[in-house]
Amino acid sequence: MSFTVAIDGPAAAGKGTISKAVAAHFGFAHLDTGLLYRAVGAKVIAGAAPIAAAQALETTDLENDSLRTPQVAQAASEVAVIPQVRAALIAFQRSFAGRDGGAVLDGRDIGTVICPDAHVKLFVTASAACRAERRFQELVGKGMDMTLDTVLADVKERDARDRNRKTAPLVPADDSIVIDTSDLSAAEAIAAAIKVVDAARS
Ligand code: DC
Repeated sequence: MSFTVAIDGPAAAGKGTISKAVAAHFGFAHLDTGLLYRAVGAKVIAGAAPIAAAQALETTDLENDSLRTPQVAQAASEVAVIPQVRAALIAFQRSFAGRDGGAVLDGRDIGTVICPDAHVKLFVTASAACRAERRFQELVGKGMDMTLDTVLADVKERDARDRNRKTAPLVPADDSIVIDTSDLSAAEAIAAAIKVVDAARS
């Protein structure tokens, strides 16, 4: 039986941490849909045309550590504006969402466009300052040479593009439950999400 958890929100709000923990807790599969756009963005940086890259995407393209850089994140946000790129990625996401045993998908448009009938919809958010600080610590931890100001500017630029695009903009689904992680520890945010999923299952 399928059970779909849709988790949307802006960059670095904690979606990834929450999604992985929810999937592990309930034994569901997890898809970080940002990786699809990052993989297309990485191909475009390497010289490919965005729509063709999206149409030819393979699951092995997602297993690449270099997809986690700020440059690839920006390229992902840029290709994500193109309706044909988004269209090329829909079938894969919907089929993942419908798999037996449950699935958690995190992204920007999961509860609104990809899985409007998801059993649970969460919108995970936090202030831009909090998100930038977290992303900054993460990137510095990986040895990247960044300033907090650059990361904040990057987060704000991506937010604006993701929120203002015409196709599938980042917006909470009307029936989503909002978790603001600005003042929550990771453990508290995860517990809040698990509580919502538990309630929907019973
Ligand atoms: O979640 P992320 O930061 O890895 O996503 C990278 C970019 O991909 C994000 O800025 C916008 C785009 N994206 C999207 O448009 N729709 C999704 N479902 C997931 C990501």
